[in-house]
Amino acid sequence: MCGIYGYVGSNNPVKKAIEGLKKLEYRGYDSAGIAGVKDGKILSCKEVGKVSRLEEEIEKSHLSLDVAISHTRWATHGEPSQINAHPHFDDKKSLAVVHNGIIENYQGLKDELKKKGVEFLSDTDTEVVAHLISHFYKGDLVQAVKETVQLLKGAFALAIVHKDHPDSIVAVAHESPMVIGIGNEEAFIASDPNSFAPHTRKVVFLSNSEIALVKKDKLEVFSSDMERLEKKQEELKVGVYDSSKGQFEHYTLKEIFEQPQTIRNALSGKINEELGTAVFTGLQQELPRLGSVSRILILACGTSWHAGYVASYLFEEFSRIPVQVEISSEFRYKNPILNENALVIAISQSGETADTLAAVRELKAKGAKVLALCNVQGSSLARESDYTIFLNAGPEVGVCSTKAFTSQLTILSLLALLLARMRHLSRDEGVRFLNHLNKLPDLVKSILEEREIIRGIAKKYSSFDNFFFLGRQYMYPTALEGALKLKEISYINANGYPAGEMKHGPIALINPDCPTVALTTNKKTYAKMLSNIMEVKARKGPVIAIASKDEKDVDRIADDVIFIPETIDSLSPILATIATQLLAYYIAYERGESIDQPRNLAKSVTVE
Ligand code: M6R
Repeated sequence: MCGIYGYVGSNNPVKKAIEGLKKLEYRGYDSAGIAGVKDGKILSCKEVGKVSRLEEEIEKSHLSLDVAISHTRWATHGEPSQINAHPHFDDKKSLAVVHNGIIENYQGLKDELKKKGVEFLSDTDTEVVAHLISHFYKGDLVQAVKETVQLLKGAFALAIVHKDHPDSIVAVAHESPMVIGIGNEEAFIASDPNSFAPHTRKVVFLSNSEIALVKKDKLEVFSSDMERLEKKQEELKVGVYDSSKGQFEHYTLKEIFEQPQTIRNALSGKINEELGTAVFTGLQQELPRLGSVSRILILACGTSWHAGYVASYLFEEFSRIPVQVEISSEFRYKNPILNENALVIAISQSGETADTLAAVRELKAKGAKVLALCNVQGSSLARESDYTIFLNAGPEVGVCSTKAFTSQLTILSLLALLLARMRHLSRDEGVRFLNHLNKLPDLVKSILEEREIIRGIAKKYSSFDNFFFLGRQYMYPTALEGALKLKEISYINANGYPAGEMKHGPIALINPDCPTVALTTNKKTYAKMLSNIMEVKARKGPVIAIASKDEKDVDRIADDVIFIPETIDSLSPILATIATQLLAYYIAYERGESIDQPRNLAKSVTVE
């Protein structure tokens, strides 16, 4: 899972490529590289590390190109190294290839090529593509790419430049995103259209092994069997957002602090106070079907899966609809039983998570209609789903997801309300729920204002290497999310657990060096949570409680308490999460970790 960016035109291709690549770093940042054509030769530069390292090298070498393809990598096959960094070349260095995805049958292809005497330099699956194209090339690059693509299995987006074609990029996409931006006497190719949005909003998406021949003033697209296609040109809808860090040291902190506004954005235009219900303009024609939904299936990964898990409690409690929440990567090993009254909800901040896309494709093949919750306009999930509700949270740059989670929860709460109001929930109950939802932005703000208290607690616990996060009911998935945040950005081993499950084994790990973050804000489970805290304390485990301001007993039992404002149980995940986000952030900060781009991770996981 990587980012691809390319430029054809006369406006400094190298500079354009670096500028675009920086916007794709969320897709991986192990290494970066660029290649292109100059004076009939392929020239290149590759570096281990972030795009800024590549930029420094390019400045030193004064690299200049007439056409450029570039790449930022998240390693799959082969460690992050200069040799494994993209682009990859054929042995004559007549062409260069960048790739996002995985060529699943690369080993067999590599063995065949080796038998023919081809020497491989890297451990990557991508290098076979470069050698195959070179093998098939007889002067027509598109034809050579077509013959190569027919041999590949897996998911791939590829961009290729050839020394004999200084005015062209050939791009292909199969189950990995690739979009072409059409400018004025210039063209772009990228894994994500937002990377070239400042230059053009006119886009053409590739899929199903389509092959594009991209020139500055001409675009030709062919099907995988070389039939010429009339592709629809679309207009990209991208909001204008401040993409700087502003006054904040990290994007992650900036995004945590944006949450009063992003929650407001999620609520905006979706509330009918009068009727005590929610309104989703894009779902109007689905309303009759929503009224008869008898089961909900939620698909997601990581933080988005946690949001889905919280929502399963919401839908069951409010809408009285049974919910199945599945981790997308596991879902595909089941043979899903769907009935026509099932509502499928796919949740993904990026809309590019390969596991979630694969699960959605499987369900669509079975005839399901899919409702997506997504933050990125033009993303694969948004394009492939039947309906999309956008989070409108603005770009989330920090690899650890923060504001997207609370926006997902806000929208899922509204959806649960809508489904409940279409069933048994009274208008008054709906109005009360909306009142609580409307108060959230201010309540979030008040937690952020007390950040120094959380920072102090984070300092105290920053040297511990093992944590538990415990909760019951709504606070169980919230505990999972809190633990994930800490793991991701501070590299601390943190386990999220249902508090009641501790006594069935994990409590063996409790000792004075293993703090527990106890999420006690659900009133329904408060007493039981206090008992669980006592059990941890009896084994000399330090306890940090995240508690509602009205919960006084907890202060006497826990070592430290982060008090947060009171709300109803079903909305408390949003408030408790703000506290766990700040706790994780400040612990990672104390430990001096790379918060916005933690090791081994990428923002968008585009491989299965
Ligand atoms: O873009 P998505 O919401 O589909 O991403 C899913 C996960 O990869 C993502 O939530 C990941 O777990 C984050 N790094 C969590 O902070």
